[in-house]
Amino acid sequence: MSSVVELQPSTTVTAVQGPEIRNTMAKQDHDFRELLSVLTLEEKVRLLSGESFTAAAGVKRLNISPIKVADSTSGVRPSQHDSDMTTACFPNTTCLASTWDVEALEDLGEKLATQAKMKSAQVVLGPNINMHRDPRGGRNFEAFSEDPLLAGHLAGAVVRGVQRHGVGSCPKHFVCNDSEYMRHYYNVDQTVDGRPLREIYLAAWSHLLRVCDPVAIMMAYVFSLFYRGHYDLIERVLRKSWGFKGLVMSDWFGTRSTVEAIKAGLDLEMPFPVHRGPKVIEAIKSGQVSEADIDERVIKHLDLRNRTRESHADADAEEYSEIEEATNQTARKLAEGGIILLKNENGTLPLDPNASAGLAVIGEFGRDAVVTGGGSASCNPQYRIPPVDALKDVLADASRMTFSQGVKTRRIIPLAPVPLLQTPDGHAGVEIKYINDSSPDSPILVERREKPSVWMMGEFPAGLQVPGSCIELNTNFKCPSNGKHTLAVRRSGAFRLYVNGEEVLTGPQPDVTTEQFIFNHILLESRVEMAMEEGAVYAIKLVVQSRDRETVGEPTPYAASLCFEEFHDEDQTIIEAMEVARAADTSIVFAGRDGQYESEGYDLEEIALPRNQVALIKAVASASKKTILVLHCGNPIDVSAVVDDVDAIICAHFPGQEGSRALADILTGNVNPSGRTATTWWKTLQDAPSFGDFPAQKDNGGDLTLKYQEGLQIGYRHPKKERVQWPFGYGLSYTTFEYSDLMVAVSGAGSTITLECSVTLTNSGSMAGHEVVQVYVTPAKGSRVWRPEQELKMFTKVFLTPGESKTVSLKEVLRVACSYWDETEKQWRMEEGVYGVLVGQLHSAFTVSDGEHWDGL
Ligand code: BGC
Repeated sequence: MSSVVELQPSTTVTAVQGPEIRNTMAKQDHDFRELLSVLTLEEKVRLLSGESFTAAAGVKRLNISPIKVADSTSGVRPSQHDSDMTTACFPNTTCLASTWDVEALEDLGEKLATQAKMKSAQVVLGPNINMHRDPRGGRNFEAFSEDPLLAGHLAGAVVRGVQRHGVGSCPKHFVCNDSEYMRHYYNVDQTVDGRPLREIYLAAWSHLLRVCDPVAIMMAYVFSLFYRGHYDLIERVLRKSWGFKGLVMSDWFGTRSTVEAIKAGLDLEMPFPVHRGPKVIEAIKSGQVSEADIDERVIKHLDLRNRTRESHADADAEEYSEIEEATNQTARKLAEGGIILLKNENGTLPLDPNASAGLAVIGEFGRDAVVTGGGSASCNPQYRIPPVDALKDVLADASRMTFSQGVKTRRIIPLAPVPLLQTPDGHAGVEIKYINDSSPDSPILVERREKPSVWMMGEFPAGLQVPGSCIELNTNFKCPSNGKHTLAVRRSGAFRLYVNGEEVLTGPQPDVTTEQFIFNHILLESRVEMAMEEGAVYAIKLVVQSRDRETVGEPTPYAASLCFEEFHDEDQTIIEAMEVARAADTSIVFAGRDGQYESEGYDLEEIALPRNQVALIKAVASASKKTILVLHCGNPIDVSAVVDDVDAIICAHFPGQEGSRALADILTGNVNPSGRTATTWWKTLQDAPSFGDFPAQKDNGGDLTLKYQEGLQIGYRHPKKERVQWPFGYGLSYTTFEYSDLMVAVSGAGSTITLECSVTLTNSGSMAGHEVVQVYVTPAKGSRVWRPEQELKMFTKVFLTPGESKTVSLKEVLRVACSYWDETEKQWRMEEGVYGVLVGQLHSAFTVSDGEHWDGL
């Protein structure tokens, strides 16, 4: 069977995209732009900043309500600090990217818009399209890829989907937020006119802007206006050369100046007026800024209002359940499409769901589903399905399935469990006293809480002096077992921990920034091991002192948490896991990382499997007939220690609230895996081209600088391939695909000359499945400059039943497919010559006869 399908090409000639999208944006009852003439100067200045962590300011007098914004693409949540509220949780962005599925991501965008409306948010803060430059990047899990075209097109699909329904999308962080370590403080050694920025880091943004028209863009900390090229970046590149018309906002507390930032084109300071407000009024008075400068920024704000609707949750119960069903279907489809089969030997996968074989499930993550990474891209899912339960649902006979929890993976000690805690007056939980140093015997407030934790950011109970006070937490703790257990404290200030009246642990104020306080909780933690008895009740008192107030910008933290972990004999649990594995026909080991490892606010220090996972995997593999390793991770993992021990490996990412179901379907062949890596997996960390230049280091002048010495050679663009574990674009299937009849043509005229490729794809195996068609262009021979051997220029995802063939046609603007950035001319240059095209194992060529220089999108 052979048919020709008109596939919607993933890469299109997109001159028409902007206007089309704009037409579909919501129209308001009135034009906010008209308000410019009636706003007072103070009101205009007010509109240049946020008024809370989740809203840009409004003006009450004119009924201009605040613009509510919400993170992010894994799940729209109301606020970074409102972590208890649940939301529909989609897979993380590396999983989304591994789908290579433009249509599915557009569908995600639509679902995010619905979620945003239900939370009354007008703008979704995402997607994040920073580059996967180094496998330690803390936020890589919430970004797409090492390849700018893949990142830009997939992110663009999300933006289109979100904006189709009157909600705005704000891609972030422009540009080079590729490392988290000291992200507020480092600079980069690159310039706007260097090839690495143009061909990789900025290129992701230009690809994005060619396929969508976001209402706003968020700046990266590094370029939030203390980098000297910021004017070039916003005004010259983004606005003038690329024609971006939307609003430019700072990242949270990322504005560094008043006058410079306004002149450089930064429209909105988030989340509060630290460098704006009265400081702007002063700058106008002193003549450093004119009212016309302010108007230019305010117009962007009013335009954004014109392009987004104020939204409210207005679904009735029936509609709500329909929305929920459709949302979860999308979440599941994305997880199914993004999970990658990395290794499959000895016919290990798929498992036969009808066989009553013994299946051992091993590892904490097999029971405690991993759904998201950490930081502002995390969210609290509506539900977590333990993978063991999802597997039970798809196996005809699960009676021989066993579970063993294996080694500990948690990075921080969990909060002490509420059922073990009682306040001194007999209620569940803890008693908390807020005490000023000036009156130690009369607390200003005493309260009870179930969770043994107080977590405050700049907002404190009335009358509490900060500095000059302490929090005292009291509870009676009933020990669940005999053993040398761990008590731990996480806190913002100096502390003392007492058990039965005796001081058992004390520590100083942690030397952390507010940023580290918010995200990197391990830096706040102190631990003590104590021999304790089962059933005994221990009176615990924790006293934490306040710290000095932050002077500029960020809110002052104040926090105290009591944590507990039962003694755990790792050798013994490995032995238990081996016993379970030995008795089974197949073992599935769940390993990798969760959101405690991969998060905003800090980078990974290494990419090896955490803690004792290598020992567990090796032991299980030695005892097991067949071993499947399921890895949760955003960044690639160094699997060199175990890759030859196991028969199959699956990368399950952080797959969202439907992830366990998707995974169970892939393991049992209900779904044919079709995820493809969106980033190179190096064998070891040392093999990554950025290894020596990550994170930022102090340069000779004492400045913290992030160097990009590998230049253009990131990921698959690096010439040395022998240290690659799994290359970019890689992933196995339960079926086979054959490529034939590659044809390449160049047609059209002027700036819209297109390169068109068509290829016939056949499913030559016995199972239906998706294939990702990837088109790479190789540079003209004899180029004046070094160029990567090949670069991804087009892609699409195709579904084929066994025996079916389709002709797939894709096109791209010729100069986008062929050009490099000419650092001398400060323009793109398309050289004349013969270029190659690679699709699957097929090669072809085309000729560019008229070279040119050009600028723009
Ligand atoms: C992050 C942004 C996020 C913002 C609001 C910042 O810390 O860098 O990505 O959108 O917080 O939560």
